Amino acid sequence: MHQVEILPSILSADFARLGEEVKTVEAAGISMLHVDVMDGHFVPNLTLGPPIVESLRKVTNLKLDVHLMITDPDFFAPVFAKAGAYSISVHQEACRHLDRTLRMIQDLGVKAGVVINPATPVATLTEVLHVVDYVLVMSVNPGFGGQKFIPNSLRKVAQLASLREECGLHYAIEIDGGVSLENLGDIVRAGVDWLVAGSSVFHSVNPGDTVREMQRLAKSATAVAV
Ligand code: DX5
Ligand code: ZN
Repeated sequence: MHQVEILPSILSADFARLGEEVKTVEAAGISMLHVDVMDGHFVPNLTLGPPIVESLRKVTNLKLDVHLMITDPDFFAPVFAKAGAYSISVHQEACRHLDRTLRMIQDLGVKAGVVINPATPVATLTEVLHVVDYVLVMSVNPGFGGQKFIPNSLRKVAQLASLREECGLHYAIEIDGGVSLENLGDIVRAGVDWLVAGSSVFHSVNPGDTVREMQRLAKSATAVAV
């Protein structure tokens, strides 16, 4: 049975009350928080930079999972590592020297993840699967919260799960985009370890209770799977 983590994405939180929002989901017993970094070039949106990660680092012990949706991850990964990231993921589509970038992140003492957009096949990762600590499958086109889950992502998750098994590898599988109370069971059964959830958590009436409900659903889905 695999340990499933729910990672609330602060992209959908109220930034004016960020510390408070984080405390609410932290109280539900999560261990990781997802932080979306967008530069207005790789994706058509702007979000936040290293100072926010530094500030979060001071108010919580949660592991900060930093998702870089930017054109220059080589320059910014060290900056986010210094700011207090636990893990940093970079897009396959943004990295000219993907192997080098991933190893550079690990040399900083941070877990390294690779991300693929919905149109990018798992086959593009064959040569780095033995390097990465985790693979993030985008289940929406990156840039915005609140989009609809793309079902084909689950086929990619299943491929990654069987490759992991066949090759004796240990990377975690993460999914990001459109995760809800309705599709969470199917996602967990497909083999996902880390589930990012933004709007379904922070736009709900009680984000803490929503996370607790997600944890309960994840647990019963893994119980069925074994
Ligand atoms: C989208 C971001 C996601 C976003 C997900 O580009 O990478 O992390 O926060 O939001 P929801 O869960 O609302 O789809
Ligand atoms: Zn993300």
